[in-house]
Amino acid sequence: MLDLAVIGLGYVGLPLSLQFARNGATVLGLDIDPVKVDAINNSKSYIHHISDESIAEQVGEKRLSADVDFSRVSECGAVVICVPTPLNKNREPDISYILKTGEAIAPSLRVGMLVVLESTTYPGTTDEDLLGVLEKGSGLKAGKDFYLAFSPEREDPGNPDSKVAKIPKVVGGLTPECLNKAIELYSKAVERIVPVSSCRAAEATKLLENIFRSVNIALVNELKIVYGAMGIDIWEVIEAAKTKPFGYMPFYPGPGLGGHCIPIDPFYLTWKAREYGQATRFIELAGEINTSMPQHVIRNVAAALNSVRKPINGSKVLLLGLAYKANVDDDRESPGYILMDMLQQSGAAVSYYDPYVPVIRPTREHPHWAGTQSVDWNKETISKFDAVIIATAHANVNYRELLDWSQIVVDTRNATKGLSGNATVVKS
Ligand SMILES: NC(=O)c1ccc[n+]([C@@H]2O[C@H](COP(=O)([O-])OP(=O)(O)OC[C@H]3O[C@@H](n4cnc5c(N)ncnc54)[C@H](O)[C@@H]3O)[C@@H](O)[C@H]2O)c1
Repeated sequence: MLDLAVIGLGYVGLPLSLQFARNGATVLGLDIDPVKVDAINNSKSYIHHISDESIAEQVGEKRLSADVDFSRVSECGAVVICVPTPLNKNREPDISYILKTGEAIAPSLRVGMLVVLESTTYPGTTDEDLLGVLEKGSGLKAGKDFYLAFSPEREDPGNPDSKVAKIPKVVGGLTPECLNKAIELYSKAVERIVPVSSCRAAEATKLLENIFRSVNIALVNELKIVYGAMGIDIWEVIEAAKTKPFGYMPFYPGPGLGGHCIPIDPFYLTWKAREYGQATRFIELAGEINTSMPQHVIRNVAAALNSVRKPINGSKVLLLGLAYKANVDDDRESPGYILMDMLQQSGAAVSYYDPYVPVIRPTREHPHWAGTQSVDWNKETISKFDAVIIATAHANVNYRELLDWSQIVVDTRNATKGLSGNATVVKS
């Protein structure tokens, strides 16, 4: 008998599987993507910050293996589900990946097994939606025949100090026994467990964390524009404010919101709140401000080009940093794509440079950019652009060289702080 199956071997599922395996648990990774399954069985990583060696070590010790056959959950004591929870094209929650996973594993559920959902979602997904498909497909009763719980993931991509074992894990169960089973499981991998009273409280905790980020990022984005109009630099103000030892936490402005979580998760609550006749005005307002940021950046690019008598139409513009966040290779929901689309629609010749994204993968959202390659980093290439937008400030980019080689730099991340060169720098 294996200790657990982890379903969905992405940014959340793979690090979690490795942490369990490192602590001695036997883990079966399950995914619908055979490429990921083969990669793991051949000790190859497909996530930038995870090394081949860290996978090889666990595969070699026979603590980690992967498969596409979901009926194999019957060989495991517990199942942890980490599949995507995107929004559909009407910006409504799409929990179909969770439901499909539930349907796929239900016939193989056994009495005494624990099922935990980790995907970020609205309160009620675990004890209504997932419970429904699991009970229907298995003929078993949740809380009686099998255990059911929710435990949100708190991965901080790109942060080298963000280690699965060290991040306290919130857990809520359908019943007190379900909670105890989930605590027992996570104690094998995580140092501190934070039990809450229900699956819904655990689901709501994750949403609070992400809504908090979205609202505070919107606040500094708005203040950036207000203070900018007054000739005050928001970055200087944030640095000063964060010296306050209590009651303040720094958030930083940017060209828009990116990533798989913050632009999406708050709207899971907005949708569910409607069922209860409740409005989520903070979430809507934050969404409005954050999604208007690319327009602000483009206005700054247009003004900077205009000052040297150039229109956007026909100008060569480079986007520096396509990943949504510094030092990661994840370009999901990146505002860089919105900026590139807007510039292209205005007639600019658009290129990008990102050491973490050498080529743009095909996606549903940006099929027209698929196959586009990052330009090279050298004076000859970079100096050909009329303007460069720093959209994401990767630490391994030489901003001094950028300022020496470029004509106009529109900096949305304060990456050029304290540097000077030939370029005219516009903070945006
Ligand atoms: N990435 C983060 O930093 C982060 C942090 C906290 C929470 N989350 C949440 O965790 C969940 C997973 O996110 P992620 O970033 O790991 O996504 P991901 O896209 O990196 O990984 C998801 C994996 O699930 C697989 N998959 C898709 N449909 C499947 C199915 N029906 N059955 C089995 N596997 C399937 C995909 O092939 C992929 O390997 C989401 O709900 C997300 O909101 C993500």
